[in-house]
Amino acid sequence: MSDRYAVIGNPIAHSKSPAIHAAFARQTRQDLIYDRILGDPADFAGEVSRFMAAGGLGLNVTVPFKEQAWALANERSSRAELAGAVNTLIRLADGRLRGDNTDGVGLVRDLADNHGFDFEDARVLLLGAGGAARGVLRPLLEAGLKRLVIANRTAIKAQELAALGVTCGPVNGCGLNELAGERFDLIINATSAGLADAVPPIPDDCLIAGGWIYDMLYGDAPTAFQRWGLDHGAAQALDGLGMLVEQAAESFHLWRDVRPDTAPVIALLRHPR
Ligand SMILES: NC(=O)c1ccc[n+]([C@@H]2O[C@H](COP(=O)([O-])OP(=O)(O)OC[C@H]3O[C@@H](n4cnc5c(N)ncnc54)[C@H](OP(=O)(O)O)[C@@H]3O)[C@@H](O)[C@H]2O)c1
Repeated sequence: MSDRYAVIGNPIAHSKSPAIHAAFARQTRQDLIYDRILGDPADFAGEVSRFMAAGGLGLNVTVPFKEQAWALANERSSRAELAGAVNTLIRLADGRLRGDNTDGVGLVRDLADNHGFDFEDARVLLLGAGGAARGVLRPLLEAGLKRLVIANRTAIKAQELAALGVTCGPVNGCGLNELAGERFDLIINATSAGLADAVPPIPDDCLIAGGWIYDMLYGDAPTAFQRWGLDHGAAQALDGLGMLVEQAAESFHLWRDVRPDTAPVIALLRHPR
């Protein structure tokens, strides 16, 4: 019988995870089934326990359940611990659940390995202080950057997030309105402003000429923040599709101890045949 995995979220119909993991399984000849589960917000723990009791070996967890998954995990990786959110649950041999968060490593791999961004000595601006920003904080700080500024519409949330990260690297937090005079080599958009085709209000000159921008959002057309980057001299204006595939690859590796080749899967999602 095939091993069973799934992604759980609400809504879930739009999720690309089943297609990504099916492609990984074909490529690496792993015998597994990966489903999608529309989670019940009132019974997340029950859904997870029923899935695992029926032979499930692991789950990806998406909005709005990442914090509940964190609380449910019997043990957690250090990156999940800091994130306060779990996007990958692994059923251990003794039946306990291990929680991990692969979003940050997905972001860093997409930038560094797929696109060649050099984090060494980079000044990086992270926009937003919600779940996505929190999830990437530790891997970003461990990537070797010179300085990380977290800027958020609600400044206190950026300051609180920065305070969590200070033991891992050079980070401070501020409001979006406190960026005058600052210059960055890379700006990462982890806000949800793009869902309304909007861009967070940041100074026109805060990206250096030839700097990079990365929008965690993705879609069929360039996002509002990608367009902002191109209008403001960015050498690269990337969307978050690569991050999505890379975080999935890290989950797949945690479950199967096999690392899939992500490039053909990213290409397949960009240009479905
Ligand atoms: N590519 C991937 O694999 C991946 C993974 C995870 C998330 N994402 C994307 O990341 C984005 C954020 O997700 P999330 O889970 O972090 O959401 P969230 O927890 O709801 O946080 C939303 C953040 O956006 C800010 N924000 C919302 N509207 C804004 C606006 N109009 N102007 C400025 N800031 C605004 C919020 O600021 P306040 O604190 O002031 O409200 C908050 O910091 C989403 O677009 C999601 O699709 C992508």
